[in-house]
Amino acid sequence: MSQTTTDLLAIGARHNSPNYAPAPIIFERGEGVWLFDCEENRYLDFVAGIAVCALGHAHPRLTEALRDQVEKLLHVSNMYYTAPQIELMETLSKRSFADRVFFCNSGAEANEAAFKLARRYQSRVANQPDKTKILSMKASFHGRTLAAITATGQPKYHDGFAPLVPGFDYTPFNDSALAKEKIDAHTAAVVVEPIQGEGGVRPAELEFLQTLRQACDEHGALLIFDEVQTGVGRTGALFAYQNYDVTPDIMTLAKGIGGGVPLGATLATDKVWAGWKRGSHASTFGGNPLATRAANTVLQVIEEDSLLDNARDRGEQLRQGLLELSSRFSVLTDVRGTGLMVGAQCGERAGDIAVLAREQGLLINTAGGDTLRFVPPLVITSEDVEQALTRLEDALLRL
Ligand SMILES: Cc1ncc(COP(=O)(O)O)c(C=O)c1O
Repeated sequence: MSQTTTDLLAIGARHNSPNYAPAPIIFERGEGVWLFDCEENRYLDFVAGIAVCALGHAHPRLTEALRDQVEKLLHVSNMYYTAPQIELMETLSKRSFADRVFFCNSGAEANEAAFKLARRYQSRVANQPDKTKILSMKASFHGRTLAAITATGQPKYHDGFAPLVPGFDYTPFNDSALAKEKIDAHTAAVVVEPIQGEGGVRPAELEFLQTLRQACDEHGALLIFDEVQTGVGRTGALFAYQNYDVTPDIMTLAKGIGGGVPLGATLATDKVWAGWKRGSHASTFGGNPLATRAANTVLQVIEEDSLLDNARDRGEQLRQGLLELSSRFSVLTDVRGTGLMVGAQCGERAGDIAVLAREQGLLINTAGGDTLRFVPPLVITSEDVEQALTRLEDALLRL
């Protein structure tokens, strides 16, 4: 007889690493925007694996492409090419400012590569070995490797992990005057999320990103956009920098690009890549045919099914609905975001509301401790948004 949910939860609680605290649900399958647990309860998924499942769950095109790829080839290493990998390099380069792409497996790794790329560019191309400082934003999030937590401007992620990586510094997000002071002759790169995700869904102001671009140009520093969360259609543009018309030198991607299959990518211009030569960096799994086939399919479906338009329209519907709720529930004090990356500020009750929403069959999570985050699959329909708003209202009534 198969084990019950209670049995499995007990085993998980005994053997899971202690850094996670999963909800007491065991998911078994998904279909579009819906997730089903072992007991056939269904949940409207506005977490999407934390902004990962761009096409929702079990999308027929993605499932078919993966099935075909699994039957053909899973992995060969970067000592050889595969066609899906080459196709993805070309597509990403054609659809962004970049000329070349390095593949890895996660957002943190994509950022590690970006930092190494920036420092090496300064030392080997610009001939400025003293230009090593990497400036990041307070309240940012860049991942969990040592360099990525160092870049992450939130002390709670540093706790107990000293010594951190040398050469990082921080400046307040959206404060142009202070950023201008911090960017100087020693700055190798500035890293910024166009919309801070984990920090509470906080969009960068246009003027701030323009100031960063100008100050980087003035001092020969590189501008890195961490688009791990904002990239691949989430904000209604393929990449969020396109909403701002401010072009970085390096961009990192992960999350949505593989539609649920792990894949990270670091993109840059030829000028920047000139700093790397054979052997400068590597990843065993990065860009394997399974992950890149998934990404090619995600990008095709985004284009063919007009999912950028959908992200913009459904995002607007969601924001309007949340604003309407905020007029009736004073706990909601602000609604922010672009496309389908939406936050509703609600103070210290955010966690309680997320739990109550789950009990109403709506999955949302919190960001920045005080904000509800809505990052549903890009395929959501207007009925899904209506359902989510109704369930959220039911949750708020129970608060
Ligand atoms: C902006 C940003 N950068 C980097 C990361 C880290 O990505 P990963 O967990 O895939 O390493 C995240 C994850 O939430 C993120 O939101």
